[in-house]
Amino acid sequence: MKKINTSKKIIDIIVGTRPNFVKVASLYDELHKNKKIYKNIQFRLIHTGQHYNKNLSSNFFIELKIPEPDYNLAIGSGSHVFQTANIMLAYEKILKNKLPYLCIVVGDVNSTMACAIAVKKFNIKIAHIEAGLRSGDLKMPEEINRIVTDSITDIFFTTSKFANQNLLRNGIRKKDIHFVGNTMIDTLKNNLLNLKKPKIWDVYNLCKKSYIIITLHRPSNVDEVENLSNLLKILSKARNEKFIFPVHPRTKLKLKFIKKIYKNVILTNPLSYLQFNYLLKYSKAVITDSGGITEEATFFNIPCLTLRDTTERPETVILGSNKLIGNNYLDLIKNIKKINSNKWKVSKIPEKWDGNAAKRILKILSQA
Ligand code: UD1
Repeated sequence: MKKINTSKKIIDIIVGTRPNFVKVASLYDELHKNKKIYKNIQFRLIHTGQHYNKNLSSNFFIELKIPEPDYNLAIGSGSHVFQTANIMLAYEKILKNKLPYLCIVVGDVNSTMACAIAVKKFNIKIAHIEAGLRSGDLKMPEEINRIVTDSITDIFFTTSKFANQNLLRNGIRKKDIHFVGNTMIDTLKNNLLNLKKPKIWDVYNLCKKSYIIITLHRPSNVDEVENLSNLLKILSKARNEKFIFPVHPRTKLKLKFIKKIYKNVILTNPLSYLQFNYLLKYSKAVITDSGGITEEATFFNIPCLTLRDTTERPETVILGSNKLIGNNYLDLIKNIKKINSNKWKVSKIPEKWDGNAAKRILKILSQA
């Protein structure tokens, strides 16, 4: 298949899930703000459709002003192999019709790995945003996606020096690694003035610093109903605390089996980006198993308790407000007491999380 000649460099941008949308929004913002500088670049947006609910997908496009995708592969849900294989086949069809100059993949989801493999088979260069993250835990599907994607990536954009070290250790050449900062934090900074109070704020009489957010979606925390049930039981014992729990669809499937209702745990649908970050900014703390939220909590200096044993984002623990507490849920209460007595560490914002990552990335790509 020959590359079609064009006066502009066509760059494919791959998105599939909620965190991907947040990570590419700042690239569009930057491209839009400085059209003249990047006049030789044209993005072609490919949405794999891994996430398809309004709550997890289209609302993010609207709020973050991401243009309509050029292609929606509409893959939907299924096993990891099903998603990966079908995304590869669907993207291959697009590639056969017109090859891009370069393909940008972000993060570590199945869509990231699937499109990276497909495009590499056409000998097209890959740029990976958020390259080099490693948790060391191969039981996490995301870790497999990270390792495979980085093994065929050409241009590595990293969010921290820890990620640089991981890549160097894997034999990646220094000149291919670009420590650019964090596009998720760019998006947060770009939207600070647009954050929206969610409806539940008034419904539940929420006040600043009076509630704790919970988000959970990792298989290790939610796939066993018993784990989830234990966690809720423990939280219910902290009677003076109000927990707000926006429930991911994966978690909702399991919650159905838990009949007991706990008064101090308020369940809601997943919130939009602007609403969730409003809630986060004014929360007392967050309990989570998401990686992205540990970064946002670090930025806002909100105490963050991560229900995992490992992290691929050590800077959120070393510099930020994050603490890993694994699945020892009993530790939660002890840590909440510490937060209540104002003894939590104060976040330092990691280097280059300054809102300029997208600018650095596009500058490098426009010269590549
Ligand atoms: C995926 C990513 C994970 C990321 C998360 C963000 C992988 C391996 N996992 O996990 O890294 O942190 O997205 O949310 O790529 N569902 C819906 N509506 C949707 C999408 C999914 O109801 O729009 C349901 C599915 O039917 C399934 C569940 O949610 O039951 C899981 O969806 P899936 O995309 O497979 O993985 P996530 O757990 O969301």
